[in-house]
Amino acid sequence: MENKNTYLVTGAAGFIGSNLIESILNNGDKVVGLDNLATGKLENLSFIETHPHRENFQLIEGDITDISICNESCRGVDYILHHAALASVAESMALPEKYEEINIGGTLNLLQAAKKAQVKRFVFASSSAVYGDSPEFPKHEALCPNPKSPYAITKLSGEYYCKLFYESFGLPTVILRYFNIFGPKQDPTSQYSAVIPLFIDAFLKGKSPKIFGDGEQTRDFVYVQNIVKANLAACHAPDSIFGKPVNIGCGDRISINQLAHKIKALMKSPTSIQYEPPRAGDVRDSLADITRAKSAGLIDNPIGLDEGLKYTVEWFLNHK
Ligand SMILES: NC(=O)c1ccc[n+]([C@@H]2O[C@H](COP(=O)([O-])OP(=O)(O)OC[C@H]3O[C@@H](n4cnc5c(N)ncnc54)[C@H](O)[C@@H]3O)[C@@H](O)[C@H]2O)c1
Repeated sequence: MENKNTYLVTGAAGFIGSNLIESILNNGDKVVGLDNLATGKLENLSFIETHPHRENFQLIEGDITDISICNESCRGVDYILHHAALASVAESMALPEKYEEINIGGTLNLLQAAKKAQVKRFVFASSSAVYGDSPEFPKHEALCPNPKSPYAITKLSGEYYCKLFYESFGLPTVILRYFNIFGPKQDPTSQYSAVIPLFIDAFLKGKSPKIFGDGEQTRDFVYVQNIVKANLAACHAPDSIFGKPVNIGCGDRISINQLAHKIKALMKSPTSIQYEPPRAGDVRDSLADITRAKSAGLIDNPIGLDEGLKYTVEWFLNHK
C-alpha cells in the first residue's frame, strides 16, 4: 500500500523551492514543482537526475498568473508550499504593476485552485518586509504592518487573502513571515541578489563586496534548512495558527558590517569592503520574535548563523 504525501512547491527552481524539493524527496514523498523560470534555474533541480526517488518528482513549467496551470498543478495534491514570486524590494520600486500581477494575482489563483482541490494545507511564503521600519523590537506578529515597498504590499495582500480563505472558506492556510534567508543555491548573479551570496561571490572573485549605507543596519538571518523544517512542520501544525502570520527567523540580529567581517574571515579573504549610498525601500533594522513559531512547533533546534554560514561558504566553494 502506498501512503506517500504529495506536495506542490511553487517557485520550484528558485533558492528556497529547490531546497524544499530536495528534503521532500529525501523523505520519500512525492512532489510537483511549478515554476516559469523567471528568476529560478533548472540547474537548481539538476540533483534530481541522480536522486534515488527521482520518479517521485514532476516539473510543470508554467505561470501562476494562469488559473488553468494552477488548477492542473493542484490536482491530487495534499500540501501546497507557495513560494513562486518576484522577490526583490529594489526591483519592485521600479516595477510595481508586475509585482502586483504576479505576487497578488498569482497567489489568489493558487488559493482558488487549492480550495477547489481541497488540499490539506496551504503554506504561504510571506516576508518580514511587511513590518517596514516600525521602531518596535523585536518584531512580533501583533504589530501593525507598515510596508515600505510594492514587494512588501504584495506580501501583505497575500497574507490577507490567506486569512480570508481560511475564515470564509475553511482552507487551512499557514502564513510564514520569513526574515532574511541564506544558504546553498541562493543566486549571487543578479543586481537584486541577497547580501550573503553577493558577499561570498565577491570574495570568491577577489572583488570588494558593496555595502549600501553605513553597514550598521541589522538583519535577522535564518539558514534555509530552518525554513524547510518550518514548512514541513507547518503542514501538521495546530489549527490555532491557521490564517495567522508566524515569524520565521533566528531571533537574533547582526549588522551588515559584522556579517561582512564574518564571511571575510571564513573565506580568509584579504579584500576590503566598499560603501555605497543607501537604497530606497530598504528597512534599517530587522529582528524576529519567534515565540509563536516555537510554540506551534515550527522552529525547533534550529541551525544557527555561524554554522549555516560555514555550510553556505562550503557549498559555494564546491560549486564555483
Ligand atoms: N529569500 C529570502 O530571504 C526571502 C525572505 C522572505 C520571503 N521570501 C519569499 O520566499 C519565496 C521564495 O524566495 P526565493 O528567495 O527562493 O526566491 P527565488 O527568486 O529564488 O525563487 C522564486 C521562484 O519563483 C519563480 N517565479 C517567479 N514568478 C513566477 C510566476 N509568475 N509563475 C511561476 N513561477 C514564478 C521564479 O522563477 C523562481 O524560481 C518568495 O515568495 C519570496 O518572496 C524569501
